[in-house]
Amino acid sequence: MTATSVPQAASPTAGAPALEARGVTLSYEKTSIFENLDLRIEEGEVTTLIGANGSGKSTLLKAFGRLLVPSAGSMELGGQPLRSLPTRAVAKQLAILPQKPVTPSATTVRDLVSRGRHPHQSLFQPWTPSDSRVVNESLAATGLSELADRDTASLSGGQLQRAWIALVLAQQSPIILLDEPTTFLDLSHQLDVLRLVRSINRERGATVVMVLHDLTLAGRYSDRLVVVGEGKVIADGKPWEVLTPEVLRRAFDLEALVIADPTSGSPLIVPVDPDDHRIELGT
Ligand SMILES: Nc1ncnc2c1ncn2[C@@H]1O[C@H](COP(=O)(O)OP(=O)(O)OP(=O)(O)O)[C@@H](O)[C@H]1O
Ligand SMILES: [Mg+2]
Repeated sequence: MTATSVPQAASPTAGAPALEARGVTLSYEKTSIFENLDLRIEEGEVTTLIGANGSGKSTLLKAFGRLLVPSAGSMELGGQPLRSLPTRAVAKQLAILPQKPVTPSATTVRDLVSRGRHPHQSLFQPWTPSDSRVVNESLAATGLSELADRDTASLSGGQLQRAWIALVLAQQSPIILLDEPTTFLDLSHQLDVLRLVRSINRERGATVVMVLHDLTLAGRYSDRLVVVGEGKVIADGKPWEVLTPEVLRRAFDLEALVIADPTSGSPLIVPVDPDDHRIELGT
């Protein structure tokens, strides 16, 4: 996708992080997932949340995307409380792909992706050729140009996942939140999506927060990893600082070797199966 102009925050506080959780409690009914959590997301970085199933990654991402309101503390966007910002202003700043997006029925791929342009429209600012161009670029960037007129109901799981990613791209927001964007994708398409995310970050300066389960890919395509578990952030830093056998044991109850990936130099996680030690060489 070609580089395009990035909408600016309405009046961001100078030096403020892109997003910040300040003393936040996130709960479902009476169950707290996080209490008094502090987390800053720095502007222009790719930050990936990792952690075991049920550790709270999606909960945290939803709170950053204002899909979940904290029961205490404050979520901030550019130094301003998220709850005080108008919905349209938030949608221009921030695009979120939830883990389980609900696909509207009887919708073509192009119509779905076009929804990403809604925050840019109003009564006085109808659809323009520039909106069509952005939609076409988003379809092309996700390899969906040929499928643009297909009903979304007829897509494979991976094709539908890419259509949702195209919608997020079409929104052209400076902050992008992606919950498991590589689910359903074959390895080649996983790499395509992560390379696309990195190019949007580098070329457009977009701030990206995503959730990934593949620790090796997380380390390879992120500036920073945040490990959640035990109701808090249990490790936070650059991939080589975070992806240690100790952290993997604590966060995932996983024994693993961490070696340098010969192609990228980033950490390569090799899970250890205790049964493998019983296999004798040459048998
Ligand atoms: N709508 C909900 N109502 C009640 N409990 C919920 C709800 N959504 C999530 N939870 C619970 O909150 C906890 C954190 O869930 P969350 O979806 O944030 O985990 P996750 O780290 O994203 O997991 P996964 O890797 O499986 O996607 C889990 O125990 C989950 O069962
Ligand atoms: Mg999740």
